[in-house]
Amino acid sequence: MRIYSGIQPTGRKHLGNHLGAIRHYVTGQEEAEAAGAEAIFCVVDLHATTVAYDPRELRDRTYDTVALLLAAGLDPDRCILYRQGDVPEVPELTWLLTAVTAHGDLNRMHQFKEKSAQQRELVSAGLFLYPVLMAADVLAFRADRVPVGDDQRQHIELMRDIALRFNARFGGGDGTPGSGREVLRVPEGVYPTVAARVMDLQAPERKMSTSSGSIEGTLYLLDDAKTITKKLKRAVTDSDNEIRIGPDKPGVTNLVELLAATTDRTPEQVVEDLADARGYGDLKVATAEAVVAMLGPIQERYAELRHDEDAIERALAVGAAKARAIAGPVLAEVREAMGVGPRA
Ligand code: TRP
Repeated sequence: MRIYSGIQPTGRKHLGNHLGAIRHYVTGQEEAEAAGAEAIFCVVDLHATTVAYDPRELRDRTYDTVALLLAAGLDPDRCILYRQGDVPEVPELTWLLTAVTAHGDLNRMHQFKEKSAQQRELVSAGLFLYPVLMAADVLAFRADRVPVGDDQRQHIELMRDIALRFNARFGGGDGTPGSGREVLRVPEGVYPTVAARVMDLQAPERKMSTSSGSIEGTLYLLDDAKTITKKLKRAVTDSDNEIRIGPDKPGVTNLVELLAATTDRTPEQVVEDLADARGYGDLKVATAEAVVAMLGPIQERYAELRHDEDAIERALAVGAAKARAIAGPVLAEVREAMGVGPRA
């Protein structure tokens, strides 16, 4: 059972990133270890080049992201943590997979439509091929399970189709999906259940987001305790002062779910435990305390790790060597199956 996920090195990571992804990486690392399998995590610097970006910043943001993952509990001795650009097998596989990827499927990707509409200067071919690069990330490692956010469902379906089509075409099948040898493993997406959606504190009908949210509505993982408390105190609620969850109370529901996720309770338990509360003030204070308690230790470790870029590079070199040891043989089989390069 091999777990694989990728994370963008762009933007300031926020609480939604932590509750929806990063903390599941840490439990994934533990599950994989217990099962005698691997958990593989990739900081996707190549994906970051598909939209306008500053080359001087990309490496720094990559270090930020790696330091954050380490601070949150990923351990290079217990998982494989690597930088996408360090493993040339991945872009090579991207090209090879384009042979079994339908142009029409790429054209239908929601994320491509959204992101291409946002570009001012250039809609790059890289942005169009983004899902193929993502498929190559996972397929190069024959991963079984891919924990990702809900917004990645379409990309996961596409990578499954690509693997099926590859096996049918190049695995000695008759061309119909499902036939042929499993040269490439068909992975499964794993989607978060609890607190899958942390909403913007100022606009609770919208997801907390790096790109579209407001600073006041977003709890950044590196915000200090004062800032977190202030943002939560100013969170939009409603006027009836009744602590209850429901679609008619998006702001209160978001706070209750946040408090539940950070204190390992269900939202219903939180509501029950707050039965004697004096209203939203108590809910906000409790949520702020829980978020600060959860992020404090991560922030301390981050501060220790981030300034030592040589140490980060050393950790990444270890990850790259482990990653290439897996992806290299897979690529050799793919090339052989496709008739590319010399006979194996
Ligand atoms: N596209 C993913 C996102 O935006 C990031 C990603 C890149 C990824 N490669 C991946 C996720 C491979 C899972 C597996 O969240």
